[in-house]
Amino acid sequence: MLAARPAVQALVASKIRELYNAGIGRDDILPFWVGEPDEPTPEFIRKAAIDSITAGETFYTHNLGIAPLRQALAAYGSRLHRPVDQERIALTNAGVNALMLASQLLVDPGDRVVEVVPLWPNLQEIPAILSARVSTVPLAFSPRGWQLDLDRLLDVLTPGTRALYINSPNNPTGWTITREAQRALLEHCRRHGIWIIADDAYERLYFEGSGVAPSFLDIAEADDRLISANTFSKTWFMTGWRLGWLVVPAALMADLGKLIEYNTSCAPVFVQRAGIAAVTEGEPVIRRSLERFRSARDFLVRELNAISGVEAPLPSGTMYAFFRAPATSDSMAFCKRLVREAGLGLAPGSAFGPAGEGFVRWCFASSEERLAAGIERLKRALA
Ligand SMILES: Cc1ncc(COP(=O)(O)O)c(C=O)c1O
Repeated sequence: MLAARPAVQALVASKIRELYNAGIGRDDILPFWVGEPDEPTPEFIRKAAIDSITAGETFYTHNLGIAPLRQALAAYGSRLHRPVDQERIALTNAGVNALMLASQLLVDPGDRVVEVVPLWPNLQEIPAILSARVSTVPLAFSPRGWQLDLDRLLDVLTPGTRALYINSPNNPTGWTITREAQRALLEHCRRHGIWIIADDAYERLYFEGSGVAPSFLDIAEADDRLISANTFSKTWFMTGWRLGWLVVPAALMADLGKLIEYNTSCAPVFVQRAGIAAVTEGEPVIRRSLERFRSARDFLVRELNAISGVEAPLPSGTMYAFFRAPATSDSMAFCKRLVREAGLGLAPGSAFGPAGEGFVRWCFASSEERLAAGIERLKRALA
């Protein structure tokens, strides 16, 4: 019998993809199911890549990334958080690859890892691909926002646990960890030798304070057991470019370089040139999109809560509203019905694990007109 490894056979296929397939061939669907901004990459970023290709930069490059981009990211990270040396930064083929590399670096088959859920499915399946044992701690729903039970998480982080995966701001709930919880977790993980793998994909899509989400990089020492994974996808409208980065303790960089060699060898040079333009000239883009997404969030959440039976907390970060109504208790069945009967594409909460069941995710990185048209369709389906 031909078969993949049992751990691979056991992976859960993407439920958003299943839903998407149900809508294939229909051009009347308003899609809010994918986590992707609705704008193409800004022109100055695209131009940097075009110039690089024109100049013939089409060869393999360093495993850890080209020096000017590592420098630019060190300056960027040092501006946002604590000073970080470029020697601790490695470029990756987007965020999902960064998370896989971080996991390959740390997680052995049978290792126990802990995740705060509901959570982006890729981050749940990555440790499973490596045959780790995944324990989960669910966020608690309240109409005022999702809450972490910190004591419960600390209890679950027993000695011998290999790693804590934490995505904040969180996809799908928009929950963001507090500084106090970060301090308590860092202290606890230090005491028990547990790694923290922080998925910081949405750190610049944070609607409170300075617009930069609290990061473990603000409080950790350079030699703490902390890896931060990040991506150009959401911050600079670059989902299709597949560029991301890791911040890693210096002691692991040589081994990370080997892993990159055997996974992808390097991120494409011309994509990295675009990354330099994004990091060095992209702040106005971030400011503008944060304001646009803030208005979109406020509009959508207000409209959702105005529908009888809908409970939609205001997310503090990301570009998602994660809400429930009596009709969403079987979220996949509800989302399939929405596609079929209303031409509305939302993501079922069950795609984010059992803790997401009963909820539905709506990506609000879209224009107010489109969001309003979506709301009308949702109202009709719920009527
Ligand atoms: C929580 C989270 N982390 C990481 C990513 C990685 O994105 P990419 O692989 O496009 O960089 C995503 C994308 O949706 C995400 O939602």
